[in-house]
Amino acid sequence: MTIARIPFEIIRDPAAMRARVEDFRRDGRVIAVVPTMGALHEGHLELLRNARKRADIVILTIFVNPTQFGPNEDLAKYPRDEAGDLEKARTCGLDLAFCPEASAMYPAGAQTFVEVRELQQPMCGASRPGHFAGVATIVAKLFHITKPHVAVFGEKDYQQLAVIRRMVRDLDFGIEIVSQPIIREADGLAMSSRNAYLTAEGRQTALGLSRGLAAAEALVKSGERDAATIVAAASAQLAGARIDYVELRDATELSPVTTLAGPAVLAIAAFVGATRLIDNRVLTS
Ligand code: PAF
Repeated sequence: MTIARIPFEIIRDPAAMRARVEDFRRDGRVIAVVPTMGALHEGHLELLRNARKRADIVILTIFVNPTQFGPNEDLAKYPRDEAGDLEKARTCGLDLAFCPEASAMYPAGAQTFVEVRELQQPMCGASRPGHFAGVATIVAKLFHITKPHVAVFGEKDYQQLAVIRRMVRDLDFGIEIVSQPIIREADGLAMSSRNAYLTAEGRQTALGLSRGLAAAEALVKSGERDAATIVAAASAQLAGARIDYVELRDATELSPVTTLAGPAVLAIAAFVGATRLIDNRVLTS
């Protein structure tokens, strides 16, 4: 049976959004959500196309979440273009956009946070204290408001995906979390809203991240299993960038790996100028 598409709508009020999705659920429609902070690029559009294949109703959320930014991070200058984002997203068959104000998501006196205690600690969590509590909290709220059956996230934010999967499991959200492989520019740079900050020279330096991952993978394919050697091969490609971390960690628990024996994620975070970029690849022995 073909289910009629609904007219596109932008909703800003959490209560109005909840009421809409409750109607859809009552009608037996499958709902997919793609949470974003806007500044949509081709990677986000792939998330939406993926969601479209899985659901009757596709909801895009756009919210630059203040609680996941540290005091010296780029919250104020984070790129915002809601009209442009919605124009792009609608080419992917979007049904509803949820674009709330910060005051609606964090009313005065808000003091409840979701913490995924261990997975939030290492890697990006170590250099961005509080970041994953902010992410888990807003994603939990977006799930409560949009009540999806399915949610689609990109694999570029590998640790974020691990944190969200664990939160959904531990707190019984009953939502299927679908991951979308990293979408790359033709030269290998992982797509990111923050790539817009890069100068032409910075962009060349930034290619070191994907080159580093490729070098490490080649080494593993040639038989190398020592984590320090694999990490060193990736780090050697990052000339001109300031390394935040290059680490090989268990693909699920994100615990440190010294010898590659099962699926492990090689994750890189590095500053190119003031822009912090991340990339990763899962390596198997
Ligand atoms: O990946 C992002 O864009 C954000 O961290 C998310 C998941 C939308 C939460 O604000």
